[in-house]
Amino acid sequence: MSDASNQLESILDFTRHLAENAGDLIVGMRAHSRLNVQFKQDIELVTDADLASDKLITEAIAKAYPDHQILAEESNPDLSSVQYNDTPLWIIDPIDGTVNYAHHHPQVAVSIAYSVKGRVQVAVVYNPFQGEMFCAIRNQGAWLNDQPLTCSNTMQLDKAIIATGFPYDKRKVLPQLMKRLHKILNHVADVRRLGSAALDICWVAQGRLDAYYESVSPWDFAAAQLIAKEAGAKVGHFIQPPKDVPAELFGENLLISNPDLFEPLHKILNSAELDQPILKRWLLSTRLFIHKLIS
Ligand code: IPD
Ligand code: CA
Ligand code: CA
Repeated sequence: MSDASNQLESILDFTRHLAENAGDLIVGMRAHSRLNVQFKQDIELVTDADLASDKLITEAIAKAYPDHQILAEESNPDLSSVQYNDTPLWIIDPIDGTVNYAHHHPQVAVSIAYSVKGRVQVAVVYNPFQGEMFCAIRNQGAWLNDQPLTCSNTMQLDKAIIATGFPYDKRKVLPQLMKRLHKILNHVADVRRLGSAALDICWVAQGRLDAYYESVSPWDFAAAQLIAKEAGAKVGHFIQPPKDVPAELFGENLLISNPDLFEPLHKILNSAELDQPILKRWLLSTRLFIHKLIS
């Protein structure tokens, strides 16, 4: 085994261990204490477990890898670190599925990605409530609890189960979200909204779902998209992403699918945009990203 590959293996061991510790923490906090629930900008739920998990993960990374950069949803959500950069970047969602977590649903994950020059090399998504550890190393495969993962081989759209999600603030984008959903529902067997983007994507990797589409932040999908890719899924965008941001870390208009369904789904989702005037289309595809950059 080469030095580079040994190095990624040891980063994976470290990351899995960290995700397990964070998982134990959030399971314990939900079981043993009354959760303190607050709202960011009056709309987005955050609990004290999100903050505690973020702290545990970011402190451990800063201690083990003091020269690396960290993008973490709760402690450092500054998207300017998302660039083609020589300094390795860790991307962390300390609890993906916070609404599920706060409502005692099991679809909850800790998500940690390790990236270099805008490309994710090591990925871990851990659901501590179901004991499911999804992980991947670039070009070496993806696993669920050490079992290799392969995405589904469903070829017919009308047999496909597709997951999606919606942003916390739906006010301005609701008509567009509904248009996409309407078009998708017209063609597929059914749609799921399970509440954790990271797990939705891992479920595509595992074949429990055939595809997933949504607009999310880098921490929601960075780790899971490598897991899906390594399991044979196709990862892309249904609207062309900007060239100056690494595509693997650009979460707007994401489409992740088994390879056979990618093109037909891309066409359907893209056709929902074509009904829009050109300027409005462009604004819709970039607004969320710009909003995140400046907020
Ligand atoms: C959310 C979940 C959800 C997705 C939202 C995300 P959070 O992350 O991934 O499935 O639809 O867009 O913000 O807030 O639970 O970390
Ligand atoms: Ca998230
Ligand atoms: Ca989160």
